Amino acid sequence: MCGIVGYVGRRGAVDVVLDGLRRLEYRGYDSAGVALVHGGGLEVDKRAGKLANLEAALADHPLPESFCGIGHTRWATHGVPSDRNAHPHRSSDERIALIHNGIIENFGQLRAELEGEGIEFSSDTDTEVAAHLLGREYAVDGDLTEAMTRVCARLEGAFTLLAVAADDPDTVVGARRNSPLVVGLGEDEYFLASDVAAFIAYTTEAIELGQDQIVTIGREGVSIRGFDGVACEGKHFSVDWDIAAAEKGGFETFMRKEIHEQPAAVADTLRGRIDETGQIVLDEVRMSDQDFRDVDKVFIIACGTSYHAGMVTKYAIEHWTRIPCEVELASEFRYRDPVLDRSTLVIAISQSGETMDTLMAVRHAKDQKARVLSISNTVGSTIPRESDAVLYTRAGIEVAVASTKAFLTQLAACYLVGLHLAQVRGIKYADEVSAVLDELVAAPGKIAKVIEHLDPVRQMARDCAAAGTDRVLFIGRHVGYPVALEGALKLKELAYLHAEGFAAGELKHGPISLIEDGTPVIAIVPSPRGRSLLHDKIISNIQEVKARGAKVIAVCEEGDRITSAHADLVIETPASPTLLAPLLTAVPLQEFAAELATALGRDIDQPRNLAKSVTVE
Ligand code: F6R
Repeated sequence: MCGIVGYVGRRGAVDVVLDGLRRLEYRGYDSAGVALVHGGGLEVDKRAGKLANLEAALADHPLPESFCGIGHTRWATHGVPSDRNAHPHRSSDERIALIHNGIIENFGQLRAELEGEGIEFSSDTDTEVAAHLLGREYAVDGDLTEAMTRVCARLEGAFTLLAVAADDPDTVVGARRNSPLVVGLGEDEYFLASDVAAFIAYTTEAIELGQDQIVTIGREGVSIRGFDGVACEGKHFSVDWDIAAAEKGGFETFMRKEIHEQPAAVADTLRGRIDETGQIVLDEVRMSDQDFRDVDKVFIIACGTSYHAGMVTKYAIEHWTRIPCEVELASEFRYRDPVLDRSTLVIAISQSGETMDTLMAVRHAKDQKARVLSISNTVGSTIPRESDAVLYTRAGIEVAVASTKAFLTQLAACYLVGLHLAQVRGIKYADEVSAVLDELVAAPGKIAKVIEHLDPVRQMARDCAAAGTDRVLFIGRHVGYPVALEGALKLKELAYLHAEGFAAGELKHGPISLIEDGTPVIAIVPSPRGRSLLHDKIISNIQEVKARGAKVIAVCEEGDRITSAHADLVIETPASPTLLAPLLTAVPLQEFAAELATALGRDIDQPRNLAKSVTVE
């Protein structure tokens, strides 16, 4: 939520900063702005709307050469998206420019204090108070790091701040509390950014910052201190993404590219985690087999798409391990006083590792002495760092705001955790577990097959767009239910259509009244093999909606003749054990949403009102 970049070095700062913002635009695109230090002053340009607006303005009126600057791409919290609310914000003496990600919770009180001193505000943002406070403190001793330290002591809430000063052309100072900030280490050049994607074109060497730390980058290098002023060491790491991962690689959109990357992403997530004897090896998670054996209850906490991965995981964990497992929206978790103790395993799923709702739920779980295992795609992000244990998905950078490959890799990682729990506890489903493991290893090939056969899904999406479809319902049972919710979420967020997912059995308790002649209903049909009761029931649900005029599109297993006889259209996926089927059935729904939204002229990489990393509660 908001992307920030800072640069000091030997290259033209405006190019480096804009390049970084381009890669961070997924974090928000309500406005963009830059501030450069030049000739004893600050050059600032900022524009409402996407980064392209700022780029066009800078092409018309280029800023002078500078080797030190900051840039921001905004997801609005306080104040509408507009030029005046765009960052950077300046102190009243115009000697300081500052950008911010997060929310300054006590901004009202600080604003009143500053206005009482005669300072006039030029925006409606919470951020501007930090700019004025920093200006006031900087005027005291002309030391930006010291001034930032004093300002942070006054701020409450979540914030990453970056600032530059007009008369210090070699320094960018950053501060971090509860919002992400990483340092990039180049040769005679240094970067600060919300995410390594901003600088991987220049360096893959980075430093992770801790909570409540202040970092100064300058010609002499990097220095880090706590909010208490005490010097500290950052943790070095090397980024293993390459720049190609952050480019579109021949696809029209990042989302389309990421859908196609799913077989490789799932294979990478499984790689090295299953040994030749069929045992799951999760040494890296920092939990011993005994720790796993001690677990008597599992809670899964997550938001959005990650929550849907959690819902699937609940079915898998309870079936394979017989341990009770609850799944809960992270934003609700801590407010209802859940019963947790040392033998509770809390699994926090977060692609970004920065989602504030999930982070706060993790902290609540830790306060209650539960053990927290996070599943994340972002090495060094806050949620993994604050967890007792972590299992990283290996999806690579996901740029499109709508999650696709991250979702599938979350499922793969969650299956590994569930199967590992089953293996170390030696439960009665041992045979089933080893068969499922073989199927899990085969999943990437099957996902690739689904992707090869998406043409009918695209056609169906274009037909829906052409017919002026204004609502689509998704139904499923068992793990098909979270897949239905995920299909509806994708369509809502990308196409801005009314889309809802239902447990198929619930339709008759109310929502069936939404069905009109021609309403598209997408049914996620389980395998007809084995659990035929489940299959029979959803066939009945298909008949119920058809009888009321629905147009039924069924996502079913290949060769499922019963379903083809009842549905108007079938999208077939390869055979798979029921619990693993979401790895396959989610994919056509992603493509359906992407194609329908594209046909409606939507920007599928950057849907309106959204941001990828939601760092506010
Ligand atoms: C939807 C989507 C969101 C995220 C949610 C959680 O396509 O991407 O619903 O899943 O904001 O984000 P993470 O996983 O980063 O915690």
